[in-house]
Amino acid sequence: MANQFKCTECGYQTPKELGRCPHCDEFGTFEKMQSSDSKSKSNDEAVTTNLAGVDTDEQTRIDTGINELNRVVGGGVVPGSVLLLGGPPGIGKSTLLLQWGTKWPNKDVLYINGEESPAQIARRANRIEASPDCFNLTHPEYIENVTKNMKKYDPGIVFVDSIQTVKSEESNGSPGHPSQMRAVVQELVEAAKRYAVPFVLIGHVTKEGQIGGPKLVEHMVDTVLYFDSSQGTDHRFLRATKNRFGQTGELGIFEMTARGLNSIDDPGAHFRDTQKGASGCALSVSMEGTRPLLVEVQALAGPTQYSSAQRTTTGYPYDRLLMLCAVIEKRFEKVQLNEQDVFINIAGGLQLDDPGLDLAATLSIISSFADFPIQSNLVAMGEVGLTGHLRTPSNIERRAEEARRLTDGPILIGGETDRVSGDRIRKISTLDNARKVLDGLS
Ligand code: TYD
Ligand code: MG
Repeated sequence: MANQFKCTECGYQTPKELGRCPHCDEFGTFEKMQSSDSKSKSNDEAVTTNLAGVDTDEQTRIDTGINELNRVVGGGVVPGSVLLLGGPPGIGKSTLLLQWGTKWPNKDVLYINGEESPAQIARRANRIEASPDCFNLTHPEYIENVTKNMKKYDPGIVFVDSIQTVKSEESNGSPGHPSQMRAVVQELVEAAKRYAVPFVLIGHVTKEGQIGGPKLVEHMVDTVLYFDSSQGTDHRFLRATKNRFGQTGELGIFEMTARGLNSIDDPGAHFRDTQKGASGCALSVSMEGTRPLLVEVQALAGPTQYSSAQRTTTGYPYDRLLMLCAVIEKRFEKVQLNEQDVFINIAGGLQLDDPGLDLAATLSIISSFADFPIQSNLVAMGEVGLTGHLRTPSNIERRAEEARRLTDGPILIGGETDRVSGDRIRKISTLDNARKVLDGLS
């Protein structure tokens, strides 16, 4: 059979290897297809497994020794799994690796240092009191120099910092090139499975916040983690956007200190910065995975200087704000926002997407507009429907428990749920009577 080349991104085929795919415009994505000799194997019968006989034993997991990391990866790291850790420069990815490696319980860490010199890594390790004797550094010419010698190195875990700085023999692109990254990750995934050792790969993110390189890389690994922060705070947030071995909704919270990252196991009132008596703030409890989080929703509504009023959100979904503004205008004749700029901000730099915050957001907008403060120890939890009806958010029991633990004021709950009760609980079924309840409380 004559040679045939196939684009690994889109499947386009051509008899000649091309630098750039004319179909999907990716560079260096052509690979030679299998010859007819190996194709004849396709006549062999494939083995089947009956689902009923498949062993469903829970995967063993290795405790990372870092609570917030365990939470995000699903209780520990599965041997042989590959984790991709993305995040902007300077966020603390390499710091997290050093702390991870120091706490790693079994055997040494093999650290592929493409980004920084051993001296830079050693300086960081000293600063955070990492154990330097747990780490063996290497910067191989090709990733195969490591994967073919895994038995000799015998690591407990392998860190690659970063995948944009290593090369594979299987590709002739330069490091960081899509075809190169694909070949490197393919090689690492195979080695992780073969030796049942976990691999953690650091990936740079682009300006748009995506991990650089082909999306395919995210499909190839088992877990994709993003490390992020809000500008001007020391909080660092870790989330999984993909996890073959666990949930993806969990949020890991850290604080960057002068000596590395601290896990914040009990965020408590960490994200509350109520200036008592200020208008435009309301407390709520958001569910981040299985953990309730007391948060403060802040709003500002003021006359616009522009021809059309602005809507701006930080840490809160923009579409949700538009919807709430429309509902408020419809339900409260006196709160007309069409000539008002409206801002919503979640205190502490959290990024939340929980409809249970609707009621707190609505109250804080009205509070700012009317310049009347909401009681600073009041917690509001409820989803707002288009008709102004309120619904009870998911996990209301856990949310109410957290509100009771951390505050001492009334707890406003949307909907007529009988899942929670008690003297501090006030249930309200529509936005219309939210105002009445607030007036009654003050
Ligand atoms: P780093 O882990 O190098 O980030 P990344 O690998 O994601 O690029 O962290 C770099 C930043 O973190 C740098 O601005 C200094 C700060 N930092 C601390 O505040 N405390 C520390 O203990 C360390 C090691 C770093
Ligand atoms: Mg780094």
